[in-house]
Amino acid sequence: AAPGALPRDLEGVRVVISAGGTREPLDPVRYLGNRSSGKQGYALARVAAQRGAEVTLVAGHTVALPDPAGATVRHVSTALELREAMHAEAASADVVVMAAAVADFRPATRADVKIKKSDELPDPVVTLDRNPDILAELVRDRRPGQLVVGFAAETGDEQGSVLDHARVKLKRKGADLLVVNAVGDGKAFETEDNSGWLLAADGTERSIPLGAKAQLASTVWDAVVGLIKR
Ligand code: CTP
Ligand code: CA
Repeated sequence: AAPGALPRDLEGVRVVISAGGTREPLDPVRYLGNRSSGKQGYALARVAAQRGAEVTLVAGHTVALPDPAGATVRHVSTALELREAMHAEAASADVVVMAAAVADFRPATRADVKIKKSDELPDPVVTLDRNPDILAELVRDRRPGQLVVGFAAETGDEQGSVLDHARVKLKRKGADLLVVNAVGDGKAFETEDNSGWLLAADGTERSIPLGAKAQLASTVWDAVVGLIKR
């Protein structure tokens, strides 16, 4: 193989990847959102296609990114739209990756017209409803043999370290693999590089050194190929 060429070890494998952040509308012009760039999910899609996979990318909101070569891209906006697209695509996928930053909550109501401020009326209070846990639903509905990969952005606190939280999350979600990024202090979000850990349901844990998001993507696909072979 040419130097730097990637193995074609995902040939014939159909993968569905979510990327980017969701936007939860308050009114026609305002939303609740997050700072996800989408770069890690796009890198996963690009590398999977380079390794021969049949790739569908369900893309939320991202910084300006070119469509990954060789991938089918479906654009969505809200968590509920992302959920519909992921369930539809997962029905025929071998591997499902939830790299999207899904809003945990959405405004309970979406005003049909722009919300106005008023000196007579009290300032509005935003009530939030819980969004469904799409990753947990995908695990619940998974086809026989289908692999499900989740992401977790964690900070350490008095309750435990980044890894402690991540181990609990992997169990709770029931995914086969969990990619864990330490966040805060400019780590992971809006950056070019990522580092962290890759936790597997069988208890295997490996650290992912700081590197380009394409490098982290390769590590994830290596682990997926290892699980498919078993
Ligand atoms: N996720 C999801 N649906 C949601 C929220 C999160 O599918 N409504 C997915 C993310 O795409 C990610 C994984 O769940 O793959 C972990 O997301 P994270 O925000 O770290 O976990 P939560 O379960 O939302 O827990 P918390 O934010 O309270 O730590
Ligand atoms: Ca969350």
